[in-house]
Amino acid sequence: MPQKPDYKAPPRLVHGPSHSAKWDFSHHVTPPLSSSTTYRLDYAKRGARGFTEFGQPVYDHGETPVYIYDRLDEPTRSILEGELAQVEGGECCVTFASGMAAISGTLGSLLVPGDEVITHPVVYGCTHSLFTNWYPRMGIGVQRVNMNDLTALREATTERTRVYYFESPTNPTLEMVDIAALRALVDELNADRPVEAQIKILIDNTFATPFCQRPLEHGADIVLHSLTKNLGGFGTELGGAVICPKEMLGKLLLYRKDFGAILNSKSAWAIMVYGLPTLPLRLKRQQYTAMKVARWLEDNALITQVTYPGLESFPQAELAQRQMRDFDGDFAPGNMIYFDLDSARVDGMRFIDELSSNAYSITLAVSLGHTKTLIELPGPMTHSSYGAEAQAASAVRLSIGLESPADIIGDLEAALHAVS
Ligand SMILES: Cc1ncc(COP(=O)(O)O)c(C=O)c1O
Repeated sequence: MPQKPDYKAPPRLVHGPSHSAKWDFSHHVTPPLSSSTTYRLDYAKRGARGFTEFGQPVYDHGETPVYIYDRLDEPTRSILEGELAQVEGGECCVTFASGMAAISGTLGSLLVPGDEVITHPVVYGCTHSLFTNWYPRMGIGVQRVNMNDLTALREATTERTRVYYFESPTNPTLEMVDIAALRALVDELNADRPVEAQIKILIDNTFATPFCQRPLEHGADIVLHSLTKNLGGFGTELGGAVICPKEMLGKLLLYRKDFGAILNSKSAWAIMVYGLPTLPLRLKRQQYTAMKVARWLEDNALITQVTYPGLESFPQAELAQRQMRDFDGDFAPGNMIYFDLDSARVDGMRFIDELSSNAYSITLAVSLGHTKTLIELPGPMTHSSYGAEAQAASAVRLSIGLESPADIIGDLEAALHAVS
């Protein structure tokens, strides 16, 4: 099959490659789904070679690995990994069983006791829980600093700091981090550091997806994803991925082999066959709807604050315009909205319960980036690990699906009317 390297990302996502370096499937119109836990090794020396390839922190098998056992490497998953690396513009990708497995695995392969992470104060609730409940007992320091306050960041950075970690836009508040500004600071700080002590910029790009933002282009070192969300897109598969430089590959594969949180090949196949080719279509439609819903919310007297990167009122509108661009260079503010109710007139829990009981186009459920519009209260739900004060917050997170804007607005309007 002819390869056309000048094709843009959307046709690339639909067609994918005709073969991977590891597996020829040039006559399959749909890539094959492999389902074998173990592999014939032919002769003992070849088996031994395979174990050597996967059993060291430097991965060097050239084009054709020896497949041994699914947990070490697997061809369907490898095709997805190639696609994800390509669409993010990275050198390689390692998938994991979930977004949290990718986050903990990437940090786990980078950090040792005594090291320190600086994280943006607002991150996904389970990432916050990882930093709060687990890192202290592992001897890894965590500081929380606003990633856009470069002076504070410079002051907080110590010789133990190895990672700057953040989401952009953040879950759930949709704050953005200026990746290029962070790159400039890190380059300056790294100039005096030996290679093994260099600070790395890690971004969880789950909310934006590579359709809306490709962080490596702006200077990030490593990009993380929960594939469970927009990239999977249909709410049927759990998965995670890290896109990183080649020199990290060996350690990541070793970590994944030994800690065992692999993405199963059936989920990899579904994400690759259904999720990736439809990503631009879904996101374009969802953004169109999100803009209409955000504007409607902004005009509603019962809503005190609407945060959506596409709105003129978005506090970091200039940064959003600069950093969130789709494959054609068009502004791509994403499908997530965050809003606050006038608590004197509307009780958040009642509003959500009303939607849950009576709305057709909006579902009370966590997760996001689904074909269905999902609503939740991050304070008491996805971000409850932030404690009692956060749990009392009534702000709402809305993940826009593929329904019509009129239906979503109609359901929001009816629920507000019923409870105010
Ligand atoms: C921004 C972000 N990162 C990571 C995760 C974790 O992903 P998973 O549920 O696939 O482990 C989530 C889950 O909601 C998320 O919203």
